[in-house]
Amino acid sequence: MEPSTWSGSLISSPERGGTQGPAPYFRRDFEVGDGLRRATLHVSALGIVEPYLNGARIGDEVLAPGWTSYRHRVGVREYDVTASVLAGANAIGAIVGEGWASGRLGWEGHREYWTDRPALFLQLTLVFDDRVETIATDSSFRVGEGAVLSGSLYDGEVYDARKEPAGWSTADFDDSSWRDAAVFDWPLAALTVDAAPPIRRTDERAPSSIVKQADGRYLVDFGQNFAGWVRITVNGQRGETVTLRHAETLTPAGTLEPATNRTAEATDRYTLRGEGPETWEPSFTFHGFRYVEIDGWPGELSPEQVTGVVVHTEMRRTGWFECSDPLVSRLHENALWSMRSNFVGVPSDCPQRDERLGWTGDLNAFAPTATLLYDVREVLGSWLADVAAEQQEKGYVPWAVPDVLPTPSAPTAIWSDVVISLPWALYQEHGDPAILERSYDSMTTFMRQVEGQLDGDSLWSSGFQFGDWLDPDAPYDEPSAGKTDRHLVASAYLCRTTRELADSARILGRTDDAAHFDQLADRVRAAFRREYLSESGRIVNETVTAYALAICFDLLDADQRRKSGDRLAQLVAQARFRISTGFAGTPYVTQALASTGHVDEAYLLLLQKESPSFLYPVTMGATTIWERWDSILPDGTLNESGMTSLNHYALGAVTSWLYEAVAGIRRLAPGYSRVRIGPQPGGGISWANAAHETAHGRIEVAWRIDGEAVSLDLALPHGVEAEVVLPLHPEGMIDVVAGGMHTWTYTVPGLGSDLERTLDTPLAQVAENRTLWYSVTAALERHFPGMALDPTQPGIVEMSIAMLLGHIPNVPDGVEDELRTLLSGRR
Ligand code: BGC
Repeated sequence: MEPSTWSGSLISSPERGGTQGPAPYFRRDFEVGDGLRRATLHVSALGIVEPYLNGARIGDEVLAPGWTSYRHRVGVREYDVTASVLAGANAIGAIVGEGWASGRLGWEGHREYWTDRPALFLQLTLVFDDRVETIATDSSFRVGEGAVLSGSLYDGEVYDARKEPAGWSTADFDDSSWRDAAVFDWPLAALTVDAAPPIRRTDERAPSSIVKQADGRYLVDFGQNFAGWVRITVNGQRGETVTLRHAETLTPAGTLEPATNRTAEATDRYTLRGEGPETWEPSFTFHGFRYVEIDGWPGELSPEQVTGVVVHTEMRRTGWFECSDPLVSRLHENALWSMRSNFVGVPSDCPQRDERLGWTGDLNAFAPTATLLYDVREVLGSWLADVAAEQQEKGYVPWAVPDVLPTPSAPTAIWSDVVISLPWALYQEHGDPAILERSYDSMTTFMRQVEGQLDGDSLWSSGFQFGDWLDPDAPYDEPSAGKTDRHLVASAYLCRTTRELADSARILGRTDDAAHFDQLADRVRAAFRREYLSESGRIVNETVTAYALAICFDLLDADQRRKSGDRLAQLVAQARFRISTGFAGTPYVTQALASTGHVDEAYLLLLQKESPSFLYPVTMGATTIWERWDSILPDGTLNESGMTSLNHYALGAVTSWLYEAVAGIRRLAPGYSRVRIGPQPGGGISWANAAHETAHGRIEVAWRIDGEAVSLDLALPHGVEAEVVLPLHPEGMIDVVAGGMHTWTYTVPGLGSDLERTLDTPLAQVAENRTLWYSVTAALERHFPGMALDPTQPGIVEMSIAMLLGHIPNVPDGVEDELRTLLSGRR
């Protein structure tokens, strides 16, 4: 429906209200004559709206209409309500909570970014045999109050069931004590039916445990961190209040630990009507949590009385992955759950604390993974429309969209350049140039701005940058001060985005722009090389992130690439395969290693369990990706940095490597018309299965190693061509196949039967197996700090571990046994 066809206006309470206080209830009676053929309801609000018709809730959308840049775009939902409209007397109404439009947003306690009160829009179109009648919100609606005493996204909902006006949305209701609604001034042109898909209840979880604590409160564990709320069924006295406090984790003592919510109260309160069992769930809030502590429960709490309700934007699942290492499979699940938890309308950083903002950098880092897990075209298409609208209004790309930040955002890598790399990632996934077309103005406007900011050497060397945000070696209070020079990071990302933009221009047939941005891409690449790279391939700022970016963004020639790859592998090993990268580098390290011949090191990094590492949180029981790898310390206490969200998808970006390298599904052309199937087994993983729903259909890969036997199964949709690089094949066989089912089985002589190694094996032979070498040297260093073994050093290579230990006085008990076990290859 075109905006010009909207009738009526938005309406609100006549006076300010409904923020931090009771949510307004709106209603109106209407008569329906004979001959009704169709009734269509359009619903929208500044706030969160629950529409009702003749006493029944319309639709099952929650948190509607979601969060958009309301000045520019407010979502409208359409319902066919023909079956609910009665001949004769009817009533229509809605409850509207403060939501994002007037509720608290951000960590500084501000509210009312868009309005000072919730406002409603309804339009009911009644099509009769001979005429059309329209009922739309205007001052003929009445407004009152009911059971929703407050509803805050961060703080929770307070609901007093005694105050619910019985039958308020039916025609029998007497609203004489209510007031006339006021017309609320808001441009109807902002109403759009093209906003993001609805947010819904997508899953339910039963408690995995319920513990009654010494003080009588119940602690319920849902076994999974997620976004949503708890539904209760309670039986008790009128006026009794049940309090539900939500948190992601527990203290080491096993009590609720709400600190990761920061100032968000995340507390719901329900006061009972007291007329038999009552079932309730909140409508005007959501929480990010795994645990809920319940106070004031009448009687004994049983599991069927509490249900975890998982809530997020409706999206089609497109990616599945599993492998023989359960920790890696869980890492994948954790990324999936963090994505689900952070796609509640707007792609957000986290779902629990006083933030939950549409941080551009978090999404930009995670986007390639997001496109593998779900079809995000619609939800991110809507968000990109908001980004473009805000960019146009403000003249810059806000770091968080919708923008509620206290200061203007300077152009930065990873955050602001989301306007280029996100459409590019979506285009790669779906192969649809219209995605690029829609964002093209955003892309070029941003790039011309950065171009104007380059120094005389064509480097992006001035202005604020987030750098390698959350590098674990950065000071806790300065997450942008990582080891890698922020302007190196910015210039490296600029090489990537200029290339993406030049390619986008070419795809869209904008030849002049393509030529201009090609030239710019060449210029900034040459500048990066001149400033940061030695001729032989060493980077002046020797960090894992710097090498990973140079390798993955194609900033090196072939010789330099080899040298950089080797140097990267050394640095990763020096860090003992713990993570030493932040938002900028983490998505690329495994890919940079594996693509330069260091598959073993890539797996050692992937499989490291000591903090900070990909698997450390998994070993600590994480069910989502954490903001910091060490958000929870090994002793179970929270890291004190204050940035310890346990549900932040950004660093889950490594997940794309699980699909592309472990399972081996790699796109060779946008939209997957051509693919390379090339699993790169390693790390002792003996099988992996993955599936991905592409624009052409479902691709499925399953490989398995069993002794010397290797098998690969591939299901390929018709119309797709695959180059199949057979994993570990002795002759390096590559096959080319068309759509259909394919199987390869072959024998790799010697596979799995590694040389027998003992305490008497010369070190040079131990070093032949890199995984073994690193685990043995790590163990030695742990027991004998400072011991650094170089397997190429004459005099060392011929030695065995037994000989080495012979030179050390007082070798502690157990060391020999530990080394013997490692050498034998038994895990
Ligand atoms: C958010 C991040 C975000 C960053 C940028 C944090 O508070 O949680 O993920 O990108 O701020 O300033």
